[in-house]
Amino acid sequence: MKICIVGTGYVGLVTGVCLAVKGHQVICVDKRDDIVKSINEAQSPIYEPGLDSLLKEAVSKTNLRATTGLADAVMQTEVSIVAVGTPYGEGRIDLSQIEQSVREIGDVLKQKDKYHVVCIKSTVVPTTTDTTVRNILEKASGKKTGRFGLAMNPEFLREGRAVEDFMKPDRIVIGAYDKKSFNTVKRIYKGRFEAPILRVNLRTAEMVKYASNALLAALISYSNEVASICEQTRGIDVNEVLEAVTLDKRFNPRVKGLLTNPEMNKYLKAGCGFGGSCFPKDVKALASFADSKGYSAEMIKSIMKINETQPLRLVSRLERAIGGLHGKKVAVLGVAFKPNTDDVRESPALIIIEELMRKMAQVVAVDPIAVENADKVIPAYGTSLCYSSDYKSALQDADAAVLVTGWPEFSAISPREFVALMKDPVLADGRRIYDKQSMEAAGMVYIGVGLTDM
Ligand code: UGA
Repeated sequence: MKICIVGTGYVGLVTGVCLAVKGHQVICVDKRDDIVKSINEAQSPIYEPGLDSLLKEAVSKTNLRATTGLADAVMQTEVSIVAVGTPYGEGRIDLSQIEQSVREIGDVLKQKDKYHVVCIKSTVVPTTTDTTVRNILEKASGKKTGRFGLAMNPEFLREGRAVEDFMKPDRIVIGAYDKKSFNTVKRIYKGRFEAPILRVNLRTAEMVKYASNALLAALISYSNEVASICEQTRGIDVNEVLEAVTLDKRFNPRVKGLLTNPEMNKYLKAGCGFGGSCFPKDVKALASFADSKGYSAEMIKSIMKINETQPLRLVSRLERAIGGLHGKKVAVLGVAFKPNTDDVRESPALIIIEELMRKMAQVVAVDPIAVENADKVIPAYGTSLCYSSDYKSALQDADAAVLVTGWPEFSAISPREFVALMKDPVLADGRRIYDKQSMEAAGMVYIGVGLTDM
């Protein structure tokens, strides 16, 4: 099939490249010349494991090309997949990029006689596709929906594993305006991907995406709430509690006597909070969507409330342990929102750094690859905040350290190394990657999420 992808962020580009590798003819559209040039030269403009080699394969087979010319791309293809950003701001998601893209597509559909399906892949709150998007398309094209197709096909791609998630999907959800739209979008996947294809209506498809992300985020906030309760009581370790919880066969079925350890259970883990470009934005958007419908989604709101206080709780505990943060050198280990990414968006590290600085600590934040991005969000300020990519210099003579991102290079720091480098060996472990007993045996003061300080 000939497919146009509008927007080449991590969702759009991964979608385009994977569909091209699966044999489709893909045209990626982006407004930025530098991104288009880079894609056509088979250089991925974003870092995503496995993407570069698939992009090279797709470009060399001439199955994929990029352009800034949306009109030509829509004219030459059967489906336009819209994968532009929908950032959250001012209490709701910002639809301006979606609106602009579909208006431009609608303008082209005015002149296009052949049937064309517009398929929204960006995360949008329920009813967006069959109200806002549909109205814009009908107005711009002068045609009623049905003469062109309309679909909503949410993505379930994790940053850092997006290629793998796309190539091996667990479900393909297609929200469709009518049967013809559904059948067209289904042809993109059928026979090429092994996963159940669910046909739903447009607004259900939109809701599936929010419900999925809210559930995963809820598991994390639930774990963090259990952790906070454990912290109030001597002798209860949240890790032991949650491990036992997830051994319930309803969470962890056995196959031939062996535990299957579903990946979902990894979200049942306490820490200093979730981040990234999706969970915080989607949970907030779902809560405000519910509010707009006259329903206050208390549990969804609590997910964010817990997540916002979780990093601050860790800083308070550290402050108590070292008797005040004023003028103290604190090493922050990790600024990326999770390991294996340089993405710092909504990272708990940002909240922790800001809180430490508010309390007049001298912060040295260290990350193997994300310091540049962190510096764009919270610029370095000489001695009160600086960045480093070397954990040794960050820990050298530090009064305390906070582990925020569970990078393997941080897990490998031994208790002895901490003690040797630091002035005062106090560590707040926001991901529970270190063993409390070994740390304490080496002389460290260890503060762990879900473990009491008493
Ligand atoms: C998330 C979802 O997992 C994807 O299914 C979804 O498609 C994507 O959002 C999206 O909406 O586009 P992503 O934000 O890349 O993907 O990150 P995750 O790997 O799920 O991590 C999200 C947060 O959960 C991070 O803060 C991470 O530290 C935390 N997390 C993740 C855990 O606490 N434990 C884990 O095992 C995994």
